Amino acid sequence: MERIVILSGAGLSAESGLGTFRDTGGIWQKYDLEEVATPEGFARNPTLVHEFYNARRANCLSAAPNAAHRALAELQHAAPDKVTLVTQNIDDLLERAGARDVIHMHGEVMRALCASCGHRWDAPLEMDPHAPCPACAQPATRPDIVWFGEIPYHMEAIGAALAQADLFVAIGTSGAVYPAAGFVSEARAFGARTLELNLAPSETSRLFDDWRLGPATETVPEWVADLLADGA
Ligand code: APR
Repeated sequence: MERIVILSGAGLSAESGLGTFRDTGGIWQKYDLEEVATPEGFARNPTLVHEFYNARRANCLSAAPNAAHRALAELQHAAPDKVTLVTQNIDDLLERAGARDVIHMHGEVMRALCASCGHRWDAPLEMDPHAPCPACAQPATRPDIVWFGEIPYHMEAIGAALAQADLFVAIGTSGAVYPAAGFVSEARAFGARTLELNLAPSETSRLFDDWRLGPATETVPEWVADLLADGA
């Protein structure tokens, strides 16, 4: 099988009931991202930010992986050394569908981080600003999420995977946020073919060689089935 890098966004988990950000009724139409998804917002009102992520953590726990998550896990199982799963999503639905080593470039809502000593641990369901870090006891705990203005995680590993990719696939992402939105151009520069799976054209659709339009729970299993049938 050829080397494939798959970037997913909120559209992958939309049919599991987790909201997207920029669609009609999306999360950024209900909350001010400056208040709940920036370091400045957290410094101003840590309780509000914890409440926002406590709600998203509860949503995540009550959601179930969908057919698209399962199809990506199946593809990875078929060729673990050829498939790199990069996600902008902070949910754990890919892992719960059986995927491994998922690269969460924007962090994970089920993980907590100590802003004082850098310790990471599995987040409790409800976090609050006064909870002491299990390692250093400082009340400096935050969700292990990459906020706007912060550096996404695992960029070196992602760059190395893009440089080796034969195929780059973007699933359910608007192409609105960098550096993720630039991965398609990076992959093309290294000679990869590019495919977009989305409900509708995205801001970066023109940069893709091919598209499959429709809900992820239909397009992703179909694409994976075609790939496995071809032994590509
Ligand atoms: N199937 C496939 N695609 C879908 C579906 C679906 N059922 N529903 C929505 N989509 C697509 C939309 O067409 C859109 O292109 O998912 C995309 C959602 O876009 P956004 O809401 O912008 O989500 P995303 O691209 O993941 O946002 C990137 O922005 O706010 C930050 O950190 C946050 O990781 C997030 C990043």
